[in-house]
Amino acid sequence: MTRWLVTGGGGMLATDLVRVLDGADVRAPSRAELDITDRAAVAEAVKWADVVVNCAAWTAVDDAETDEEAALRVNAPVALAEAAGRRLVHLSTDYVFSGEGAEPWPEDAPTGPINAYGRTKLAGERAVLAHHGTIVRTAWLYGAHGPSFVRTMARLERSHEVVRVVADQHGQPTWTLDLARRIVDLVGSGAQGVFHGTNSGATTWHGLAQEVFRLLGADPERVRPVTSEAYPRPAARPKNSVLAHGGWAAAGLKPMRDWREALHDAWPEL
Ligand SMILES: NC(=O)c1ccc[n+]([C@@H]2O[C@H](COP(=O)([O-])OP(=O)(O)OC[C@H]3O[C@@H](n4cnc5c(N)ncnc54)[C@H](OP(=O)(O)O)[C@@H]3O)[C@@H](O)[C@H]2O)c1
Repeated sequence: MTRWLVTGGGGMLATDLVRVLDGADVRAPSRAELDITDRAAVAEAVKWADVVVNCAAWTAVDDAETDEEAALRVNAPVALAEAAGRRLVHLSTDYVFSGEGAEPWPEDAPTGPINAYGRTKLAGERAVLAHHGTIVRTAWLYGAHGPSFVRTMARLERSHEVVRVVADQHGQPTWTLDLARRIVDLVGSGAQGVFHGTNSGATTWHGLAQEVFRLLGADPERVRPVTSEAYPRPAARPKNSVLAHGGWAAAGLKPMRDWREALHDAWPEL
């Protein structure tokens, strides 16, 4: 039986991955149980595994602006990349791209991060690829086991008559359970390389918030569009985060399903 090591086991995606792997031989240590920056501990843990899925990350995008070195230590998992080699599947992000233009980003498009988090995640990709690991870039995640934009909007619907949401950033809301299933299918296929693990279609944060309101039976017109400039954040956000899905063909897999269908299926557990 394949032995799966899932690092960052306490996180949102990792929790759904462990759920999908129910019945398999899985170890999913939390940060307290396995710090991926601890080289000796990583080498020991990886010895056991046939497949390593690295879900551990510094995900506080704005905090990375002021603490890039600390973010880099986690997001560039050099010890894991060295120890696991081609057994490693590493999660990355749309933030490795600049967000320019209006076309979806192919897997081999030139990278060009515009914030510190994106730079650290790109360094992670390079470390993993140097040791022949596989990259799955994802974006705009939501799920049952962590905070997300979707859950924030559901909360704000109850407390606010009107919410203002950025309408000029485009991306693909992605359910962690869909992504977890996809990672298992990818490993099963034996394919390696760089893949885009996002649900299909595209919307804006405003469009996503409106869909959440619809699911709650609330009037979507209560969600008002604003520009990114009206909502300044410490880290710049890419305007176009839409990822292309051509790479899945190499694994014999179709692109992941449409984001709206996934959100509707996820809804009862959010
Ligand atoms: N969430 C998104 O929208 C999104 C978008 C694009 C890409 N991604 C990528 O997808 C992956 C999974 O994201 P997620 O949303 O599931 O993240 P998450 O819920 O924040 O989980 C990350 C986990 O990593 C752990 N961790 C942090 N530093 C660690 C270390 N040194 N050693 C071991 N574990 C450590 C965290 O533990 P503590 O909580 O104890 O710190 C946390 O449990 C990440 O690679 C992320 O960059 C996520």
